[in-house]
Amino acid sequence: MNTIIGNDINTAADLLSQGQLVAIPTETVYGLAANALNPTAVLRIFEAKQRPHFNPLIVHCCSWEAALKYVSDVPDIAHKLAMYFVPGALTFLLPKKEIIPDVVTAGSALIAIRIPNHPTALSLLKQLPFPLAAPSANEFGYISPTSAAHVLDSLGGKIPYILDGGHTDIGLESTIIGFDLEDNVIVHRVGGIAIEAIENIIGKPILWATNKDLAKPQTSGQLLSHYAPNTNLIIGDVQELHKQYQGQKLGLISLSNSYDNLDFDQRFLLSPSGNLAEAAQNLFSFLRQIDKFQLDLILVEALPNVGLGRAINDRLHRAQSIFKTNN
Ligand code: TXA
Ligand code: MG
Repeated sequence: MNTIIGNDINTAADLLSQGQLVAIPTETVYGLAANALNPTAVLRIFEAKQRPHFNPLIVHCCSWEAALKYVSDVPDIAHKLAMYFVPGALTFLLPKKEIIPDVVTAGSALIAIRIPNHPTALSLLKQLPFPLAAPSANEFGYISPTSAAHVLDSLGGKIPYILDGGHTDIGLESTIIGFDLEDNVIVHRVGGIAIEAIENIIGKPILWATNKDLAKPQTSGQLLSHYAPNTNLIIGDVQELHKQYQGQKLGLISLSNSYDNLDFDQRFLLSPSGNLAEAAQNLFSFLRQIDKFQLDLILVEALPNVGLGRAINDRLHRAQSIFKTNN
């Protein structure tokens, strides 16, 4: 199949209406979209990504009002958070209505719903009479795409059209939250909306999905090895690690310190000015780039564990865990 990159929303809408797949830009990462109400179309997503069927998909709508057609029993706290973070990088886990096919939620009674804050995605969604199921547009387990070129690298030849919306603003996947009967908010995946920002609105600490959930992952964000480059990667004290692994072909990913006293084949500074939003924006693109140099090992400096730093560290730790299990 010939994959075209373009910016024609009508072409994207036509293909999606025919049950075809289209990669779409969002403010977090690019998504691989299909008509969420058409099970045959949705199955094509799993095929193209080689994604296991137990792994459910986020459904994207053009507005909170539109999303409410597909969910029930929405707690007040969810409506309140929607006032602040819709459209945005926050995904809500809520009870689904019957109209949503089981293949979308992998049989779960809950659906993950998000309204992306991206002009192209929103115009497309407004034009369509159905919502879009869309996981990140990468092959399963690899790094999420933050540009149309990344999508082409991962899925070229497998999908007809990539709707180009430029480099994504945030660069990390959405934060996924659920709710319990006591109006608590439970985080299932850290992401583009900082935990602190959610806690500010709800006025109490967020709860964390438990280890029990880890044993049987509810979200692929909870699978330990995920978002991973092919090159081994290790996080820690860069000076120490460099001593331990010297003699090997080493790469560096750090926030702003270039460790000029140490030898590296490649250095990637996520944000020379130490800005975490800029670091998030660069992370996946830099991981893809550094993965092309056939290094023996990438040494990574952990970032401050606040704001978006927490989500960046989460993705880096998952990228590292393949190294841990293979060695
Ligand atoms: O920013 C994002 O969230 C991007 C853009 C495209 O919207 N999407 C994304 O999708 O990251 P994906 O499939 O790569 O990750 C979505 C996560 C998965 O870990 C999936 O297991 C979880 O959301 N998820 C989806 N539906 C769910 C459900 N019904 N219950 C629990 N987890 C769900
Ligand atoms: Mg993904």
